[in-house]
Amino acid sequence: MSSSKSSISYTWVSDLSRQGTLDLFSRASQIKKKLKAGERIKSLKGRQIALLFNEPSTRTKLSFQMAAHRLGAQCLIIDDFTTSSMSKGETFLDTLWTLHSLGPDLMVVRCGNEELYENWVSQIDLPVINGGWGAKSHPTQALLDVFTLLEQFKTLDGLKVVFVGDIDHSRVAASSIKLLQIFGAEVRVCAPSGFCEKRPKSVPVLETLKEAITWCDVYFGLRVQLERHEGAAEKSKTFEQFQKNFSLDQQGLQALGKKAVILHPGPINWGVEFQDCVEKDSRLLVRRQVENGIYVRAALMESFLEKR
Ligand code: CP
Repeated sequence: MSSSKSSISYTWVSDLSRQGTLDLFSRASQIKKKLKAGERIKSLKGRQIALLFNEPSTRTKLSFQMAAHRLGAQCLIIDDFTTSSMSKGETFLDTLWTLHSLGPDLMVVRCGNEELYENWVSQIDLPVINGGWGAKSHPTQALLDVFTLLEQFKTLDGLKVVFVGDIDHSRVAASSIKLLQIFGAEVRVCAPSGFCEKRPKSVPVLETLKEAITWCDVYFGLRVQLERHEGAAEKSKTFEQFQKNFSLDQQGLQALGKKAVILHPGPINWGVEFQDCVEKDSRLLVRRQVENGIYVRAALMESFLEKR
């Protein structure tokens, strides 16, 4: 199929400069303020956004959709593979090109670790936003995490953030750790050794949950990504170890600072990374994270389409 050079894409958090990210946050705050005041925004009226979600999603897909609707755009969506032609053997690459050929103004793509994704993005002539790429990158999740923390703490300089969970298989950890460091946060991880072998060298490990809880301003829980594990028997021992020794419970909540906050990208597996008591704790910001996902994604789509 034919191809030409891409103008704009957002595949990695580093695709936007620190200042570019701050400008995006200003735009997201404006959008949030207007929508909360009941104002109608029509900046994307007549635009078509194509969403291709080749892995399951609730938050990312629906918040892109909601953001598009709130700005007056319409969405084309492929997310059910029993009803798309992939169920008849069409490849992911042909599906990408087919959706592109329908002529949307912007595309959002979630996929597994497919190496071809980045190469495809580099060839096409419209903005493409990564909605979660295997265990490699989930840059819009990082945007909403940092935006939420900036709302809460005003600055991230020296903020102590610990990620507790399956770091090695988490695209959220990969992207959010990087963006938090760009904004001056001090990041550590806490997990059994089988879950944090591939972490960036700049990120130290805290050996016990007690150390993590007493050290941090932000406790960032992560799901164990069993679907990305190889060698299930060996990993299941790590999973059991994680569930037994690294799950946030009532005792942990008591030891956590009063001004600390708890984040999680979702979906949460209750009884694994968090015990049920965490759900009612006022320091848990997961609902605000989901809501802010709409505003940062709206801001990103608006800024990309404004440049075209
Ligand atoms: N955080 C996140 O990516 O959630 P979904 O998989 O539900 O989109």
